[in-house]
Amino acid sequence: MHTVTCIAPVNIALIKYWGKRNEELILPINDSISMTLNANEMCAKTTISSWETFKANRMWLNGEEVTFEENARLMRCLDGVRRLAVANGALKVPLNWKVHIASRNNFPTAAGLASSAAGYACLVYTLARLYGIPINEELTAVARQGSGSACRSLYGGFVRWHSGVLDDGSDSVAKQVVSPDHWPNMHILILVVNDARKKTPSTKGMQRAVTTSALIQHRAKVVVPRRTEELTEAIQLRDFNSFAEITMKDSNQFHAIALDTYPPCVYMNDVSHSIVNFVHAYNEAVGSLQAAYTFDAGPNACLYVLEENVPQLLAAIQLAFPNDLVPSVEYLRGIQVPNFGSQNEKLPSKLSDADFLEKRSKNVLKYIIHTKIGNGPSQLSDDNSLLVDGLPV
Ligand code: DP6
Repeated sequence: MHTVTCIAPVNIALIKYWGKRNEELILPINDSISMTLNANEMCAKTTISSWETFKANRMWLNGEEVTFEENARLMRCLDGVRRLAVANGALKVPLNWKVHIASRNNFPTAAGLASSAAGYACLVYTLARLYGIPINEELTAVARQGSGSACRSLYGGFVRWHSGVLDDGSDSVAKQVVSPDHWPNMHILILVVNDARKKTPSTKGMQRAVTTSALIQHRAKVVVPRRTEELTEAIQLRDFNSFAEITMKDSNQFHAIALDTYPPCVYMNDVSHSIVNFVHAYNEAVGSLQAAYTFDAGPNACLYVLEENVPQLLAAIQLAFPNDLVPSVEYLRGIQVPNFGSQNEKLPSKLSDADFLEKRSKNVLKYIIHTKIGNGPSQLSDDNSLLVDGLPV
């Protein structure tokens, strides 16, 4: 039996992917740019075994068996990697042997955070390791067919998914813009918001947007091409000010498109909007753009902030969004910040103004994940396996 275990990171888009020109091949209507997060705090982990006695392809997700062969996206990933293996002459594992796959996220899926990107990236990366094929752009085109945003999780640092123009999607691939070492003090705070509403899944929401939004084509054709160039330059120059402005504007435009969809898709809630107001008030109080927000298809906020500004931003968040769980590792997860919650951090006087502290109820944030820019997927040693004799442990 051949067994391989790998982990893959989450990525959060700065320029959003929203809208497909081909549903089946998952070809987007515009380029997107993301930052890969450190896998220490959030990652998907996948083990794949292949053996001649396995009767069917099977998969367990977070311990529960899921249908595999009826799932077109999973099968397209498996077939895609096998096709590359044939083209590469890789014969490490016979291609007609069935596979057993176990996959887990090390963060709660209930948090509504990008789990499909890490999951499909991990699946495709682990298959590539199993069959012994290289990690390259062709492989990102396979991950893309699992979930669009997954293609960006095959690389670390900042990554651009090029929409491509070809009908077969072979040029719709992800490329690294810069490695994580280029901007190592880039940190992220994910504010997990309490929310129980049922939201339209991304795949459906973007489908409806393409057919009903009058604004989405303008975004894809005019706004995004300019923004991707400007953001790439801001990243290359480590220009946080431009980076922050473009990121916030693109998040706002994505949610404007969601509202322009008919019937509308509402992903942000009142707490999300008060976080937006908070970030703008905070930046004004400190006199420069030190924090940037972005929201995916849900109410949680991802805040980008440089490492040296994290303690002050966290202290301000604590002032504006008080929480009974502070100080605790349950509330601030991931990278710990000394003295968080002790109110030792000196805040500019403007931050204590009544304006800044809109009246907010307590405990509107469930918890905060503090992480930073990270690497792409990696293979783990055999003692990390999620399968024993082909069955989940
Ligand atoms: C808002 O990649 O989950 O996170 O390709 O249909 O699986 P499918 O969609 P998915 O959409 C992600 C949308 C987003 C923006 C982004 O990550 O770029």
